[in-house]
Amino acid sequence: MYPLLILAILITCYVLFHTYILRPYIAGGVCTSKARLDGKTAIVTGANTGIGKETAAEFARRGARVIMACRNLNQAEEAMKEIVQTTGNRSVVVKHLDLASLKSVRAFAEDVKNEARLDILINNAGVFNLPEFSKTEDSFEMTMGVNHFGHFLLTNLLLDLLKQSPSSRVVVVSSVLHRGQPTRKAPGLNFENMNSEISYNGFMAYAQSKLANILFTRELARRLEGTGVTVNSLHPGKISTDIRRHFSPWKKFTWNVLFRHFGKSVEEGAQTQVHLAVSEELEGVSGLYFSDCKEDEPSKHAQDDVAAKKLWEVSAKLVGLEVTSRWNIGITMKMAKENHVIPRIKSKPSCFNTGKLESFVRFGSSFA
Ligand SMILES: NC(=O)c1ccc[n+]([C@@H]2O[C@H](COP(=O)([O-])OP(=O)(O)OC[C@H]3O[C@@H](n4cnc5c(N)ncnc54)[C@H](OP(=O)(O)O)[C@@H]3O)[C@@H](O)[C@H]2O)c1
Repeated sequence: MYPLLILAILITCYVLFHTYILRPYIAGGVCTSKARLDGKTAIVTGANTGIGKETAAEFARRGARVIMACRNLNQAEEAMKEIVQTTGNRSVVVKHLDLASLKSVRAFAEDVKNEARLDILINNAGVFNLPEFSKTEDSFEMTMGVNHFGHFLLTNLLLDLLKQSPSSRVVVVSSVLHRGQPTRKAPGLNFENMNSEISYNGFMAYAQSKLANILFTRELARRLEGTGVTVNSLHPGKISTDIRRHFSPWKKFTWNVLFRHFGKSVEEGAQTQVHLAVSEELEGVSGLYFSDCKEDEPSKHAQDDVAAKKLWEVSAKLVGLEVTSRWNIGITMKMAKENHVIPRIKSKPSCFNTGKLESFVRFGSSFA
């Protein structure tokens, strides 16, 4: 009798502790802004599932035109129908975007350029801990290619549209794992092995890509000063989503059970990115990192502005953005050739040797 009574008391205590202390603590911050988004347009990448879908639904609830930028069109259409039904907002559309293909990124950006405005861009899509080394269509390692390079090109191609809309915001979904694990601190960005060709580890590739997200945010914020466009990055929390789809079934089951009890719900996980996109108090705030709807300090490697600048320059070359500064043509050609990208020259800076420049342009056009 007594053991049963003790067990019942213990269970009751745990339920009360979980409901009133642990859950609110795990849930973290909540976006308290009631800002409406009527007349505004938002793009959410990876909006067919997880916190991207929840973010798209929240924007629709607030009245925005929402563009769900997704790879899996069937799932995206289903998600879109559900969002339209639950929010009553019919201005939700699906457009195809595969971040593992620069061609697809360019096609998406070209299509979106016809939009009247763009107020919010949420770089949310991501892949995590891929068990095996694999490459994107453009020969980037998959994790870095999707999480960083695809979003890098997408954001750059949409900047003109963002600049046309007053006080537009870019939100970059990073992760606390940019720091590594408690037992294994992540190093700074390894430019030598950015494509994981020297060595590959799924977790480290993710940590590096999420570090790249924060460095990209810092450098973009610096470049956007005075334009009215702001950009911030965030860690959404630990959430039970499909992000662990590449885990073995047993590991996936264990993590999902753990995160269902001790992690955020999908609604809670979307709060920080919604907060960054809509809160009035963040008007003009740029270049910062957030978690639980509060500013947070990222790792010291994520505050390295020299690395941020270098990452920008390397990324611009590798995705084939227009070359506007004093590039080292030899290196650009080698990297472009290895990665099958098309570098383009905006103007002919006087520092260039004309002979080399011509061969560079010829090389570029041979890939067109
Ligand atoms: N869940 C967490 O605990 C956690 C923690 C920290 C950070 N994050 C970050 O939060 C973001 C959202 O993750 P989530 O937890 O919501 O995971 P999720 O449910 O797995 O969603 C990831 C989304 O990214 C999309 N995606 C993957 N590869 C793509 C590609 N090549 N092109 C276009 N879209 C692609 C997926 O589309 P498909 O369905 O077609 O694959 C899916 O829509 C990610 O950036 C992740 O790194 C999550």
